[in-house]
Amino acid sequence: MELSQVIATRRSIRKFKPGELSVQAVNQLVDAARLAPSGSNTQPARFIVIQSQSAKEALGKCTPYKFVAGASVVFVCCADLTAISTKDARVGELFQEGAFEGVDMDFSDPSVAVSPVLDAEAVRAYLTMNVAIAVEHIVLRAVDLGLGSCWVGRFSRDKLKEILALDENIFPVALLPVGYPDQSPKARPRLLRDASMLKTLYKSTESFLPFGQEIFFPSFLISFPVSLSPFSISPAIAPPFSFILEEMLFVFSIVFCVPVSTFLPVQASPRSRYFAEDSSASPALADSFLVQESADLICASLASAR
Ligand SMILES: Cc1cc2nc3c(=O)[nH]c(=O)nc-3n(C[C@H](O)[C@H](O)[C@H](O)COP(=O)(O)O)c2cc1C
Repeated sequence: MELSQVIATRRSIRKFKPGELSVQAVNQLVDAARLAPSGSNTQPARFIVIQSQSAKEALGKCTPYKFVAGASVVFVCCADLTAISTKDARVGELFQEGAFEGVDMDFSDPSVAVSPVLDAEAVRAYLTMNVAIAVEHIVLRAVDLGLGSCWVGRFSRDKLKEILALDENIFPVALLPVGYPDQSPKARPRLLRDASMLKTLYKSTESFLPFGQEIFFPSFLISFPVSLSPFSISPAIAPPFSFILEEMLFVFSIVFCVPVSTFLPVQASPRSRYFAEDSSASPALADSFLVQESADLICASLASAR
């Protein structure tokens, strides 16, 4: 399936058909997680794959959601907190593999080269973020295989750790029940693109302005020169026709030009131009705009967690 179709058709599935998943399908899902990116390539994601009905039912007692036990497989998605100690070795591996060949880097300024990982809580948040990426890889691959899944973040970590006798360094992040969907929900509500955009920097922006200081040129201002233009042509025409013409053009420019120049995408209003663009035009957009990425949000939440 096309990735765009996978993304567009994925839903949280909370009702599954009975039946098992093949070993091959389970392996394909685990591989999807394995191939996910992770910070410094620490690869902290660990999974417990639960297929036995009695284990699923025991697991079902750790969460209010009974549908978990009805899935063919439940992935208990965890972070191995010890993975952080492999960071330097993993980075060394990356250098050896040439991942940074030709990459211009400067770590001399400590105020810029900040590590996101300072204390135990930050380490857990950082590793959890990495596990989440791996889990979402499973979610998307499941759709590709005709399967459905649902993230479950609401469960008792303590009960789960006890039932599965998890090591103290294994931090459960989420449950992911997976199976063949027995429902086809319509798309759930989403914020509009505008609401998810914190900030957009434009290619045409000459100098960078810190957040909150960017200038949005009100495009309706363009209409004022247009609305004034009748006065500049009217001296060529004798009164009273010039007066009538003036009035007509002025009314026309106010009634027509103001709304048109305000609502039509125009160069002077890159923000409205951006949102008027068809999303299929993404290569052009990628070229023209730098978009605040969700990684920034995650870093911000990490920073506030510290
Ligand atoms: C981190 C995370 C935790 C979630 N936890 C639960 C949960 O505990 N129970 C549940 O029924 N759905 C859970 N969901 C699913 C969300 O409710 C669902 O993604 C959201 O309502 C949007 O619906 P959609 O996935 O069908 O687009 C969770 C999703 C995420 C990403």
